[in-house]
Amino acid sequence: MDFTGKTFWITGAASGMGKALSVSLSKVARLIIISDRDRDGLEATAAEIARNGCAVRAEVLDMADAASVRKVSDSVFSEGISIDGLYQFAGISQRSLVLDTPVEIDRRIMEINFFGVVTLVKAVLPHMVSHGGGQLAIASSMVGKFGFPYRSAYSASKHALQGFFESLRAENSKHNIRVSILIPGRINTNISKYALTSQGTEYGKMDPGQANGISSAKAAKQILHGLRREKKEILVGGNELLMVHIRRFLPALFYILARKIKPV
Ligand SMILES: NC(=O)c1ccc[n+]([C@@H]2O[C@H](COP(=O)([O-])OP(=O)(O)OC[C@H]3O[C@@H](n4cnc5c(N)ncnc54)[C@H](OP(=O)(O)O)[C@@H]3O)[C@@H](O)[C@H]2O)c1
Repeated sequence: MDFTGKTFWITGAASGMGKALSVSLSKVARLIIISDRDRDGLEATAAEIARNGCAVRAEVLDMADAASVRKVSDSVFSEGISIDGLYQFAGISQRSLVLDTPVEIDRRIMEINFFGVVTLVKAVLPHMVSHGGGQLAIASSMVGKFGFPYRSAYSASKHALQGFFESLRAENSKHNIRVSILIPGRINTNISKYALTSQGTEYGKMDPGQANGISSAKAAKQILHGLRREKKEILVGGNELLMVHIRRFLPALFYILARKIKPV
């Protein structure tokens, strides 16, 4: 994928990896549509993109509200805009045990992390296909590869994304749709602060593991490297990614570690 002069839509662009990737891409892209629920953060990202000389369109939307997602996409496509790359980062994490968590919280996480992402890709994909193709990327997680304490619904939402997008890839590669699944480890962003507790409140803390993760700027560099090569799976992070390989090649060891590693 050559990003030069292209048009992108990046969700979750008000902070963290979505913001870092938007700003990096704005050095070469023609237009970047950024969306998020955080209006102030979105405006700050838009200002950085504009400073790099790239056109920007900022859209406040709630990924849990399918109508708001469709309204924005309808307005984008009614203006004849073609999207070359849709990179979805909007997401919410979790810090609660299965035993304590009401199913309403599980549903809320699935609405944002899975159904929101699916709603948007279903709005964009037909246009991409008729335009001759495009690139899709979604932020899964290491816990899209395995389960982990305090992350049951979050992990489930990321597993669901992986199944959905692998199927989408198999069905649509003939339409020149390229899919990259991002597997971040621990990246130093606000993700743990806004994670949901069993009461549905914000966890409000930066996990030590999170704080020791690579920066979102470094993560964006790794992501861009993988997207440029159209890698089907892009591992993002540092030494913690070893767990992905342990789960695959030494599952017995993984099951012991998953019980012992400090999850928060
Ligand atoms: N950081 C990590 O270690 C890590 C690891 C694995 C996977 N990931 C995944 O990577 C993606 C990006 O996360 P990040 O680490 O960059 O965290 P982040 O800085 O919190 O970025 C996530 C963005 O999504 C937005 N968002 C949340 N719920 C939304 C909704 N309902 N509608 C619209 N926007 C919404 C957030 O807005 P608010 O600021 O208002 O919440 C935030 O701007 C997420 O999907 C996350 O699950 C992160």
